[in-house]
Amino acid sequence: MPTSEIGLDKTLAALGITQAPRVTAHFAEVRAHFEKQFRAVHDELEWKIFRDRWLGRKSGVLTKITDNWLKPATPELKRVVGACLNELRAYVETEIEARRAAIEAGTEESAVARERVDLSLPGVIRPVGSHHLIRQVLQEIEDIFFSIGFSVVEGPEIETPYYNFEALNIPEFHPVRDDMDTFYLDLPKGAPTPLLLRTHTSPMQIRTMEKQKPPVRVIVPGKVYRRDNPDATHSFAFHQIEGLAVDTDITFCDFTGTIEYFVRQFFGPGVKTRFRPSYFPFTEPSVEFDVSCPFCGGTGTATGGGPCSKCKGAAWIELFGAGMVDPTVYGFVNYDAKKVSGFAFGIGIDRLAMLKYGIDDIQVFFQNDVRFLRQFP
Ligand code: FA5
Repeated sequence: MPTSEIGLDKTLAALGITQAPRVTAHFAEVRAHFEKQFRAVHDELEWKIFRDRWLGRKSGVLTKITDNWLKPATPELKRVVGACLNELRAYVETEIEARRAAIEAGTEESAVARERVDLSLPGVIRPVGSHHLIRQVLQEIEDIFFSIGFSVVEGPEIETPYYNFEALNIPEFHPVRDDMDTFYLDLPKGAPTPLLLRTHTSPMQIRTMEKQKPPVRVIVPGKVYRRDNPDATHSFAFHQIEGLAVDTDITFCDFTGTIEYFVRQFFGPGVKTRFRPSYFPFTEPSVEFDVSCPFCGGTGTATGGGPCSKCKGAAWIELFGAGMVDPTVYGFVNYDAKKVSGFAFGIGIDRLAMLKYGIDDIQVFFQNDVRFLRQFP
């Protein structure tokens, strides 16, 4: 039945309803009309349209009844029309609200059904990532040193000049600082000490010895920073692994034996090692360790003839710096230089990885190109 049939646009008088019993009967018809229409409301959209039709402020059924039946009613009928209208409003509002809750619950139920996981379907295979080559090489180095009694410690990448330089026997105006000049942090005026990004992992020699009495056998992997321009073998951020062994009876032979053991484990038994005199302010004597070129078998000649492209025909490749700990350094950590001795080394992990895997540009380690990374699963 369309709403026009219940005479919403006319007054009660115009509908010929002038007595209370007729008013009650007419409201009963309106209610029946509501119930019939309401049965067709099943989803959210239908519910909204229905709600507006009945409860809409401007032209809803209840507003029309108020405007056209209640307001113009004669004083005798007004009370009964008001009472019937209140009763109808309470009924309509309650029913409409109850239906909203029912529809919402039903919608959720169907959404749950839609999203239910079907465990019989084949799964989605997600590719598992792998360790970056630098991490893999680091792990390899750590395993080798673990096997001969070293343990791992780590230290801060932001350092004070004291740990990065002074306690390593590099005073303020020492020329070696020029090679390693680095990134200083902008600090507020009055900061107690300047801070810098460490240029090597060697500060951890000092921090370790400050904390620990001999015997000391540690390796220290980590990132270091230098104001170096990027090229095929230089990066401004790279990785080092420091080694330090101090005890009462460590000799130069222990030092070379340890390094040779490491190099053979890492590159294979066929490689030879040699050391050349070098200089570091915190080791004395200091050496550079070279390894016979693993690409040409230490001959300097490429397989097809001509000089080997990796060692440039030299047959040897420079590996890293090392040496016996300079007795001056023990003075900074309250070790008795007369009683203890030891050795230290600092390996550039990126260059070592380049050597072992035949990579000719250090920059590929930092570019995150998956075509490169996938070659080292
Ligand atoms: C040092 O940093 C010393 N602390 C090493 C050391 C430790 C000597 C303990 C004695 C005792 P050096 O500046 O040579 O030394 O750096 C060590 C290694 O870091 C180099 O052999 C090289 O492999 C690597 N390296 C240096 N600069 C760069 C760079 N810009 N990019 C990539 N690798 C670098």
